[in-house]
Amino acid sequence: MVKSMNWKFIELNDVSDDRGRMVVLENLNQIPFEVKRMFYIYGIKDYAVRGNHANRNSEFFMVCLSGSVEVEVDDGKTKEIFKLSSPKKALYMNKMVWKTMKNFSQDAVLLCITNTLYDNTEYIRNIDDFYMEVK
Ligand code: TYD
Repeated sequence: MVKSMNWKFIELNDVSDDRGRMVVLENLNQIPFEVKRMFYIYGIKDYAVRGNHANRNSEFFMVCLSGSVEVEVDDGKTKEIFKLSSPKKALYMNKMVWKTMKNFSQDAVLLCITNTLYDNTEYIRNIDDFYMEVK
């Protein structure tokens, strides 16, 4: 169940034929914003936790291409945890969402797509500051 308008769990369609499967992600189609940057996280050390921040301007679209990961989201009012465990499941997150990625499987490859170029100054890295700003 999705408890906030600030995130959306998306089942992606795939194109299957006798050679295998393919998922297509297009700007403003499956991805609900103009894409400016992508990065992927992999080779995660045991028990590593990533994220632990919010972004003032960046929306995110994440897909776990291999393995699995849990993504905890918090908009200051509601918290929810999603397990991404298939290349067919995506999580969209609005700006001003606190994100924590944890319980990565060893083979996890997490694709992260966003609408901004990297800008360290748009990050909020202290949760109390986040709760103040989001109020
Ligand atoms: P960090 O924000 O800690 O990654 P995560 O969200 O996965 O926890 O970023 C790790 C380092 O990489 C940090 O020094 C900033 C740098 N970085 C970039 O240079 N460009 C990027 O697009 C990202 C996401 C991070």
